[in-house]
Amino acid sequence: MSALPRRREGRGHFLSLEGVDGAGKSTQIRLLAAALRAAGHEVLTTREPGGSPGAEEIRRLLVEGEGRRWSAETEVLLFTAARRDHLERTILPALARGALVLSDRFADSTRVYQGLARPDLAAEIERLHAAFIAREPDLTVLIDMDPALALARGRARGGAEQRFEGRGAAFQTALRAGFLALAAAHPGRIRTIDGARPEGEVAADILALVGRALA
Ligand code: TYD
Repeated sequence: MSALPRRREGRGHFLSLEGVDGAGKSTQIRLLAAALRAAGHEVLTTREPGGSPGAEEIRRLLVEGEGRRWSAETEVLLFTAARRDHLERTILPALARGALVLSDRFADSTRVYQGLARPDLAAEIERLHAAFIAREPDLTVLIDMDPALALARGRARGGAEQRFEGRGAAFQTALRAGFLALAAAHPGRIRTIDGARPEGEVAADILALVGRALA
């Protein structure tokens, strides 16, 4: 932990973690938050869809119910509405007080998931983002993993939020390719980590990346 720079007053950092379902983002966020707190940072962990009371209500509309509950267009609007509330109520206030914000998913998930479901909506997704969000994380860590492995881990968790997780291996394989393409297009912001290793090794790599970003 001593390699990590100490917190600087008044300057927040916004980090997101991305990856296919089951890639281990929530575990890694927990480990990263613990390491950063031990180095003296104020850390806020949050997630999308969700992360504020209003956005968590929108999350329930998105992740529960029938697969065809919403059109692709409505789904993009709901994710963007949730993100706007999350940004206004949770992320920006935390950054303003100098906290480190770690978000499990952010706008890259909409680009990849909704962009994959409907490639013709990609330009509209970017327009909505520019109009209502207009903010990228300072650093995005993509946890890359064979979707078969990630899917097996996801299934083991179960639960009510099945809407997005029953779409099968081909979709997950395409998602992985979508995330890797996005990372290649934004090499400065998005850094890819091999997630198919013991979680301690993955955590050490992520901590090293974040340490460099904070330096
Ligand atoms: P999440 O809770 O991160 O699921 P998991 O822990 O399985 O990764 O996200 C719920 C689902 O919502 C997930 O399948 C990804 C999807 N999603 C989108 O399709 N678009 C988005 O913009 C976001 C944030 C999530």
